[in-house]
Amino acid sequence: VKRIAVLTSGGDSQGMNAAVRAVVRSGLYYGLEVFGIQRGYQGLLNNDIFPMDLRSVGDIIQRGGTILQSARCKEFMTLEGQQKGADVLRSRGIDGLIVIGGDGSYQGANKLSKLGIKTMGLPGTIDNDISFTDYTIGFDTAVSVVVDAVNKLRDTMSSHERSSIVEVMGRHCGDIALHAGLASGAETILVPEVPFDMDEVAQRMQSNFEHGKRHSIIIVAEGVGKGEDVAKEIMARCPSYEPRVTVLGHIQRGGTPTPFDRNLASKLGDFAVRKLIEGESDKACGIINNQLTLTDIDLVVNTKSSIDMDMYELAIRLSQ
Ligand code: F6P
Repeated sequence: VKRIAVLTSGGDSQGMNAAVRAVVRSGLYYGLEVFGIQRGYQGLLNNDIFPMDLRSVGDIIQRGGTILQSARCKEFMTLEGQQKGADVLRSRGIDGLIVIGGDGSYQGANKLSKLGIKTMGLPGTIDNDISFTDYTIGFDTAVSVVVDAVNKLRDTMSSHERSSIVEVMGRHCGDIALHAGLASGAETILVPEVPFDMDEVAQRMQSNFEHGKRHSIIIVAEGVGKGEDVAKEIMARCPSYEPRVTVLGHIQRGGTPTPFDRNLASKLGDFAVRKLIEGESDKACGIINNQLTLTDIDLVVNTKSSIDMDMYELAIRLSQ
């Protein structure tokens, strides 16, 4: 490859900027021309493509969001849209594309590679729901945001001897809930991957209070349902507790990326560039046991990521 482009797509995540920076600076270091595509696949179809130089990615490693902006694009889901995208890239002499995003973004890259464009996917999502990587870019920061919020909630919940229900993001994946739950000492963590019994949840909460706990934190992954609904179920079983519900929402997608996310993004961005230069294509970059890995995008999008059951059981053991 001689000319490559980079885009961010789907829901943004903290560390996407660090990944863009790594792609641009590594690409230039290895003698490539590097282009940015504004607004994901939508920008590709609109030919919203511009050359990037070393300075264009200055002062962004610490910023949340994405300077390339992101969009969800219906037209690109059609074959005509994908062909148009490949034609736009060819017309600009771009033969390699690095896509930073989640599952849907990977599928787009996979389609483009079938139309002759060399592609690499980088896992950019707070959800940590991509298989063949231990971590996605943004996940660590999102978990920190949740833990920080729970710390604050604990103060007031403990003063009033209340229980707090915190609804967190993650789409169909419970990783944000699990990691933030263990780190914040939550009494209960509800994730879509593990079935639970609401009677037991309510009983545990009651017995916690009876055994001297002054507050109780329940983390609910959005894949399980709404925090408000969990509150109603608990109220129906123990009316005296009146849990308070906090929906953290998009706050989890903002803020300065943690050093972990910045470093992960930097390693993966550079790795993707080097692998494109080596002639690889249609691959997803990941990190497994601290080793950078390449996996066929097809396999990645068709494999469900799993939850760490040892960690889940540990959280239960420590929450008594
Ligand atoms: O995939 C990231 C994510 O933040 C999910 O956790 C959440 O379900 C979804 O995106 C929210 O999407 P939107 O930003 O379109 O409301």
